[in-house]
Amino acid sequence: MPNKKCSLLIDYKPFNFDVEGEFFWGEDEVLYSELDSPISGVTWKDIGYSVVEAFTEGEFELLSKSVTKNILDAIKVNNIDFDEKTFSLSKYHEVVRTDKMHNEVINITRNLEVEDFDFDINLLVERFGNILGCQLTSWVEELQKSHIQIRISRPETLDINPPHRDGYLSYWEDIINVWIPIEGCNEKSSLPVLPKSHLLPENEILRTESKGAKINGNIYYVPCILETKNGIMEMVRPNPKPCEALIFSPFLIHGAAVNENKNLTRVSLELRFPKV
Ligand SMILES: [Fe+2]
Repeated sequence: MPNKKCSLLIDYKPFNFDVEGEFFWGEDEVLYSELDSPISGVTWKDIGYSVVEAFTEGEFELLSKSVTKNILDAIKVNNIDFDEKTFSLSKYHEVVRTDKMHNEVINITRNLEVEDFDFDINLLVERFGNILGCQLTSWVEELQKSHIQIRISRPETLDINPPHRDGYLSYWEDIINVWIPIEGCNEKSSLPVLPKSHLLPENEILRTESKGAKINGNIYYVPCILETKNGIMEMVRPNPKPCEALIFSPFLIHGAAVNENKNLTRVSLELRFPKV
C-alpha cells in the first residue's frame, strides 16, 4: 500500500503521522441525514458536537472504578507482572511497557458490553436521550450486542486511530457517539473533532476503504480520512472535564487523539447508542 503523510492542525498546532493506504475522493452525496440523526432536534446540530453534563461525582467515581477493574482484569489475563496495590490508570504505561503487551490488553478492552460494567449504562441511555430529545438504546441490532470501548493512549505514542467517521460502517449510521474522559484527559490528550464536518459531501473527502489504512503497523476498521477539499483539517479538542461527556454525530470527523503528555496515560470511554 502507498505511504502517505497525514497532516493536521489540532488546536492550531501541526501534527503529522505516516499512513499506508489507497485513498480516493467519493461521490457527490451527503451521507449525514438530518431526519435520521439523533442530533436533529438540538441547537448545535450544524456544529455536530457538544460537551454536556453527564454524571454526578458519585456516579463518575463508580464508573471510573469499573473502568479500572476492566483494565486490571485485562492486564491479569495476559499475565503481565505488576503490583495491584500501587497501580493507577495514569501510570498504566509503567506496567504495560511494550506495544505487544498493550495490544493484548486493548484486544480485550476494545470489545466490552454493558454487562462488563458495575455501573448502570442504561442510566446514560436515558440521560443522553433526554438531552437530545429522542429515544436511544444501548442495543445495536446489526451486531446483536451492546458496544463499549475503553480507549487507552500511552504518552507520546501513536496509540491513535486515524481521523475518521464511524458512520461509514452501517451499524453506526444512526447512533450518537459518546466520549467520556476517565483519566489523563486534558488539552494535550483529549479527542479532536472537525467542527461541521458531518455536513461535508463525499466528493470533498479523501479517504480509504474500511480496513484500508495502516498506522504504525496497525490496521484500522474505520476508513482513514486524509484531507478535505477545504485543505488541511483544522481539528479542535473540546476537552470535556470529569463528569462531562463529548457527544457527537457519527458523521463528524474525529480521531488522531495523540497523547502529548509526557508521563500520563490517557483513558477514555466510548459508547455508541442507536436512536430507536
Ligand atoms: Fe470513532
